[in-house]
Amino acid sequence: MRNDVSFQDLERELERGVLPAWVFSDGRVYEWERERIFKRVWHFLAHESEIPEAGDYVVRYIVDTPVIVVRTEQGVRAHVNMCRHRGAPVCRGERGRSRVFRCPYHGWTYSNSGELVGIPFREQIYADPGRIERELSLPLVRVQSYRGLIFGTLSERAPSLEEYLGESTWYLDLFGCRGLDLEVFGDPERWTLSANWKTAAENFGVDNLHILSTHGSLIVELEQFPFRQEYLLGPTNFVAYFPGRGHAIAVNRPFPGMKFVGVPEPLIAKMEAEAPEQAPYLDGLSTVVGTIWPNLSLLTVVQPLGPYPVGQGETPRYWTIRVWQPMGPTQMQVWSWCLVPRGMSEEQKRKSFQAYRLSFGVSGTFEQDDAEVWKGITELAASLGGREVRLNYEIDGAEGPWSGQQLNGAPGVIRPYVTEAGARNFWRTWLSYLRGGEG
Ligand code: FES
Ligand SMILES: [Fe+2]
Repeated sequence: MRNDVSFQDLERELERGVLPAWVFSDGRVYEWERERIFKRVWHFLAHESEIPEAGDYVVRYIVDTPVIVVRTEQGVRAHVNMCRHRGAPVCRGERGRSRVFRCPYHGWTYSNSGELVGIPFREQIYADPGRIERELSLPLVRVQSYRGLIFGTLSERAPSLEEYLGESTWYLDLFGCRGLDLEVFGDPERWTLSANWKTAAENFGVDNLHILSTHGSLIVELEQFPFRQEYLLGPTNFVAYFPGRGHAIAVNRPFPGMKFVGVPEPLIAKMEAEAPEQAPYLDGLSTVVGTIWPNLSLLTVVQPLGPYPVGQGETPRYWTIRVWQPMGPTQMQVWSWCLVPRGMSEEQKRKSFQAYRLSFGVSGTFEQDDAEVWKGITELAASLGGREVRLNYEIDGAEGPWSGQQLNGAPGVIRPYVTEAGARNFWRTWLSYLRGGEG
């Protein structure tokens, strides 16, 4: 672990577009991230469609902290899964439906809204059981939702979720959270990856240059995505980032004349009706990919179901959101959800899920491609000869005048599709949090 980190030096380096490799591996950096980032941010926990009925709950994590996310009669609530008596986990299931959680250790029972409602032999063993019950609720976690996405924070001082997300919600809407009314399909998959969480977060927010080489086997050899330069460099594609907030999202629109390829016509009409100001952006729309600071990423794109190019056979669209859950400086747990538009037929949903499975999730080819690189970066970033090497973030470094198509209403700082401006913004935000500020 390092003892000699100077944030000022890091800031100066970042201004020049470089960073030391040890930011992806250092133990002390990881401890700071836990305290200064993850204790203060809004962290994605669950999708509302995972807990549709009163009493439905799932257990999720904010880094190492298990959080029960439950729908009560009064709305969605979240509590740290920790008994106020001696600290045992009260809920042993990962998901289910229950009005109460009963601690397995001594039997204290909590309502699903967190109040302590039952103590064995309460009158006989406590002088004032009423006070104990009043005072010892499950530790509360603040929760707020944006169009089905439930976030929680361990901070009492964090701004509202609305303020935290800012105008990045425009892109969550375009992704499908608004007109498509996305819901979760199946359980989230999760697996452990020997890589630092930031390798993934900065890749999704946003590294578009890697697509052609990292995923070259699909694109070049299988010719599934007949690639033309304008798919990356065309003037209708762009990246938007949010200074001070850390979010960055890319929008790829290489198919003029085709609206949000892979979305059934009636659902396109619904999107246009619900968000007319976004309708022009559905034209040619292929990909929306990004990271909501710090570790929630999202992606929608199409995927052929067989070894044929896009559009020459069934090519469903899929939607995934994922959390890069830190498990240590060189390890993360990936949580990956597949989302589908509620209005799709069961058959369409199944096909969309198949497309997701082929690309992402534990068996996805794109996922494997990325994981291999991120593991390698993390190992080298921890190595004797590699940790002091400076990594380069200079693509689109000058951030000169925008030369793409004129955009109306798309918020954020707009940059070309191949840029490292989003990643630089991610790191500036990271640095600002580590220094005790926000954004
Ligand atoms: S630790 Fe939960 S009842 Fe004792
Ligand atoms: Fe990738």
